[in-house]
Amino acid sequence: MSILKTTVAKKVALALAGLFLVLFLFVHLAINLTLIYPGKEAFEEAVHFMDTNPLIQLMQPVLFLVFAFHIYMGTYLELTNQTKRSVKYVKNNPSANSTWVSRNMIWTGLMILGFLLIHLYNYFLPFKTQEIHDHYELVTGLFHNAIYVIIYVLAFIALGLHLSHGFQSAFQTLGVNREKWNRILVIIGNIVSFIIAFGFSFIAIYFYFK
Ligand code: HEM
Repeated sequence: MSILKTTVAKKVALALAGLFLVLFLFVHLAINLTLIYPGKEAFEEAVHFMDTNPLIQLMQPVLFLVFAFHIYMGTYLELTNQTKRSVKYVKNNPSANSTWVSRNMIWTGLMILGFLLIHLYNYFLPFKTQEIHDHYELVTGLFHNAIYVIIYVLAFIALGLHLSHGFQSAFQTLGVNREKWNRILVIIGNIVSFIIAFGFSFIAIYFYFK
């Protein structure tokens, strides 16, 4: 696409896609929380709404494309950055000017991708190909498997780390670059990461022990 010719344009597109995915995660978390409270009936209602609302139906392919785009662009930028980094500087000390998380976005990203594939296979595929009457049972049933819960929690820890850098980095990419704002965005980014990682993990662990 000619509009995405420059690296800056690619980074802006990656950042916008990432922030869109954060919004999606909050909607997803809100729906999942109904599994615990108010409970089964509310969750089935929410699933029915998501499955029948025309706007949501329209958003599903958009979400899929945004995910695919973010993964493609993230990997592309990572690979091209690697090539540039192969020119070694005399004082090459990455830990002095970047964090471990910021240097390993591709690895936390790939962990999320791995989980995403498992999630699509376990939930999205049966949902789309079979007649499921009890969605509550399908979701909570998966949380009775210890291995699944461990993979689930590890994936959300990876997502939390990805966002703990990604959230504020996205705003910097979009041009927010005042020191005061950066500090606020780091705090908000950490809160967002914690809510997402803890929220999803808590639900899985809750149903494992229930
Ligand atoms: C729900 C899932 C995800 C969310 C919410 C998310 C969010 C974000 C955000 C907000 C950024 C910061 C963009 C910026 O620095 O301007 C980012 C960067 C990145 N993401 Fe994701 N991401 C997700 C999944 C993935 C996946 C599955 C991959 C797979 C490879 C990935 C790879 C990357 C990479 C490599 C970067 C850094 C690119 C760079 O700075 O050069 N992300 N992500």
